[in-house]
Amino acid sequence: MTQVDLLARYDQRVPRYTSYPTAPHFSPAVDAATYAGWLAAVPEQAAVSLYLHVPFCEQLCLFCGCHTTVARHNAPRESYAALLEAEIGLVAAALGRRQRVAQIHWGGGTPTALPADSLRAVFAALRAHFDLAPDAEIAVEIDPRNLPEDRVQALADMGVTRASLGVQDFDPAVQHAVQRLQSFAMTRDAAASLRRIGVRSLNLDLLYGLPHQTAASVAATMRQALELAPDRVAVFGYAHVPWMKPHQRLLSEADLPDGPARFAQRQAAEAVLVEAGFRRIGLDHYARAGDALAEAEAAGRVRRNFQGYTVDDAELLIGLGASAIGALAQGYVQNAARIPVYAEALRAGALPVARGVALSAEDRLRRSVIEALMCELAADLPALARAHGAEPSGLLAAAPRLAGLAEDGLIRWDGARVELTETGRPFVRNVAAVFDTYLAVGPEAGVRRHARSI
Ligand SMILES: C[S@@+](CC[C@H](N)C(=O)[O-])C[C@H]1O[C@@H](n2cnc3c(N)ncnc32)[C@H](O)[C@@H]1O
Ligand code: SF4
Repeated sequence: MTQVDLLARYDQRVPRYTSYPTAPHFSPAVDAATYAGWLAAVPEQAAVSLYLHVPFCEQLCLFCGCHTTVARHNAPRESYAALLEAEIGLVAAALGRRQRVAQIHWGGGTPTALPADSLRAVFAALRAHFDLAPDAEIAVEIDPRNLPEDRVQALADMGVTRASLGVQDFDPAVQHAVQRLQSFAMTRDAAASLRRIGVRSLNLDLLYGLPHQTAASVAATMRQALELAPDRVAVFGYAHVPWMKPHQRLLSEADLPDGPARFAQRQAAEAVLVEAGFRRIGLDHYARAGDALAEAEAAGRVRRNFQGYTVDDAELLIGLGASAIGALAQGYVQNAARIPVYAEALRAGALPVARGVALSAEDRLRRSVIEALMCELAADLPALARAHGAEPSGLLAAAPRLAGLAEDGLIRWDGARVELTETGRPFVRNVAAVFDTYLAVGPEAGVRRHARSI
């Protein structure tokens, strides 16, 4: 099958599988009382990961698909930080102890949009209510355009070990089109500040599929990005979902590259990284040899969560902040996404939960298959079923569809084990979707929920 035929058949709308079931299947059936029960059942010895969401940015990039808002003044940022502190206290009370924490991830939006003193105050609340492991990984997402020295100091005081800088594209024509003006020097200075305060692992985010990008321009941006000596690079395909993010309508659809052009851009970025010795991690991450993510990939220990690919193997993730998602043994839970709703719950002394999903045994089994495919690009169906004390027959019902994928050259399939081929690698989400029993029914059926596959 030619590349064009493959794209025509498989460049569909499929989830990114940062969870299973995916977020469109969360419902209000999981509420604050459910979540409090789940937290109370967390085992004493369990180490948890914390995700803190900061939904503020200085300006809105037209492509942005994140939960964020533009806050022009400090007051809303300071009051949001106070809400985070209140939520930390409530969650710790529901846990009933100072739970051990192995990982903290600040995401957004732009976490450093919080004033330096607010960052410190939230971190102090974490220290007061949780038992931070001395070697805890502390990661933060940063917009290089807005990293004043006082924020760098706050990050240094908190002992940040890992940072991720948004780059997207260095081409001025692309930057103008998406309203994100960011010189190479700005990015270089931010990287230097973070290295200076001891950040060991530095990630850069790049995008393809933006207006005016070509395979050659994406490769040029990638080569420039490598001058910053990143440890990891994420190469995301621009998700154009204007029905969910109306500001994306300001990007002219006529200027957006089509499926084959997007595919060529992805491949061009990957070629530069592979040539430079980076190891490919799952769908869209790359890590240099020696980085923990590359080592985890070699050992089959990469995991996938809401932050993408990670070495974090904590079974419990607690989400803090508006729209944050947590993953507990019993299921997923998501906070209210709108700040006023999130604030109202906390002011009433309640956990600000909006929705979630409790996992069935079948969900857990399918989640393990989907995670194996997304992380290792392979899944041994009978072995995974056995590990879950289940019969493989449910998974093997997918055999006819798998045979079709094998015929199209995307996977090798021997009746038990699925393994992505080199051709199939960029289509791993389509292969994972075969095991998603929610996709054909419920809120996703016939609705443009997801971005395209490539
Ligand atoms: C929270 S931002 C990173 C930190 C900071 N806000 C920044 O932009 O520099 C997370 C990343 O998501 C990616 N992203 C944002 N909108 C996207 C979209 N519509 N499709 C794909 N990736 C997107 C960008 O690469 C961005 O760097
Ligand atoms: S890409 Fe980053 S800086 Fe731009 S609007 Fe989204 S979260 Fe904010």
